[in-house]
Amino acid sequence: MKESWEIRRASLHDRDALEAVCRSAVGPDDYVIESLEDLILHGVMHVALDGDRIVGAMHYVPTVDGSAWLGAARTRADYRRRGVAAALMQSFVGLASRSRVHALRLWSKATNMAGNHAVKASGFQEVARFTRVGRKAAKGTARAVRIPFDTDLVRGIQASPVLQLANGYVPYERYFVPLTPANVHLLANLRALHRVAGGIAVFSAHPEEDADTSLEFGLVAGDAGRILRAMPAAALASGFRDVHGFLPHDRKVLGAAEKAGFEVVPWGDEAVLFERSVAVGPTSYRKRRTFAEIAAGKREGYAALALLAGKHEHGHSGPHEDRWNP
Ligand SMILES: CC(C)(COP(=O)(O)OP(=O)(O)OC[C@H]1O[C@@H](n2cnc3c(N)ncnc32)[C@H](O)[C@@H]1OP(=O)(O)O)[C@@H](O)C(=O)NCCC(=O)NCCS
Repeated sequence: MKESWEIRRASLHDRDALEAVCRSAVGPDDYVIESLEDLILHGVMHVALDGDRIVGAMHYVPTVDGSAWLGAARTRADYRRRGVAAALMQSFVGLASRSRVHALRLWSKATNMAGNHAVKASGFQEVARFTRVGRKAAKGTARAVRIPFDTDLVRGIQASPVLQLANGYVPYERYFVPLTPANVHLLANLRALHRVAGGIAVFSAHPEEDADTSLEFGLVAGDAGRILRAMPAAALASGFRDVHGFLPHDRKVLGAAEKAGFEVVPWGDEAVLFERSVAVGPTSYRKRRTFAEIAAGKREGYAALALLAGKHEHGHSGPHEDRWNP
């Protein structure tokens, strides 16, 4: 039988215990260690407990399109295969369902067998593969021009072959979103869609790169080779020193990236994007009592006390009622 684990939200007090989990799960160089404060403060970090001891962790952050992104899955080496990661995922399925979040996404390295098996065991399916590339920005004539929303844009984007290589998904900040018509609208309004070399790229900032100096991009439509050749100059002209992006994991696109001087970033050489849909629960409104109801509650309370004290008179019910019902 599967063990059950107590799950709670982490606070900054758990930082050191979380570092110990990362060291045990991945090692002293785990990149998650330096972003622990950030992860605890932005989004939701859940931890699994064995008594008082934190034995696993996972992070959840709502995405711009109303889905949520999972990351930093870590289970202590001595607690593996006991359902810790599965329990943490389940806690976020519950959170998503209660928050009316329809989809959870995450990525895992293609070579990470434990990671891939664990996410599939929790109902996730592979939806696309990407490769992370980067290079320095460079002088040149190419420029990026922001594209405002219009309905033709949706049609052009959805028919785009380069987008289909990634099954319709693009990188945005630390996660990926599918370019549905609604998300094209959303990203255009966020000023994220740009015309580059006759094609379209999506721009954002990746939180693990220096947002002031590094431009994050993804291919949306047009000729991948031309866009990739134009990106270094477009990035420099927009004030960035470096340019990074997740490209569809496709031989031709990656060949074009190499020709344009991009190098593969080892931690993202083959990133498998997974998605799981969530059945959302009924909307529940937290109902705040009105002053009249609070006062009525007090009256009942005082009336009950009066009864206990053996007094039966009606009417008078306590010193504060007139504050609410003058
Ligand atoms: C990936 C990781 C978080 C899984 O944690 P875990 O608590 O051991 O996972 P669970 O016990 O909940 O596993 C649930 C299911 O996933 C699958 N699974 C997990 N690890 C597996 C492995 N090494 N090989 C095959 N299947 C595995 C199994 O189906 C398992 O169910 P089962 O044990 O009943 O067969 C853990 O191995 C880890 O911390 N790895 C290092 C960090 C990392 O790679 N994180 C990124 C993941 S995207």
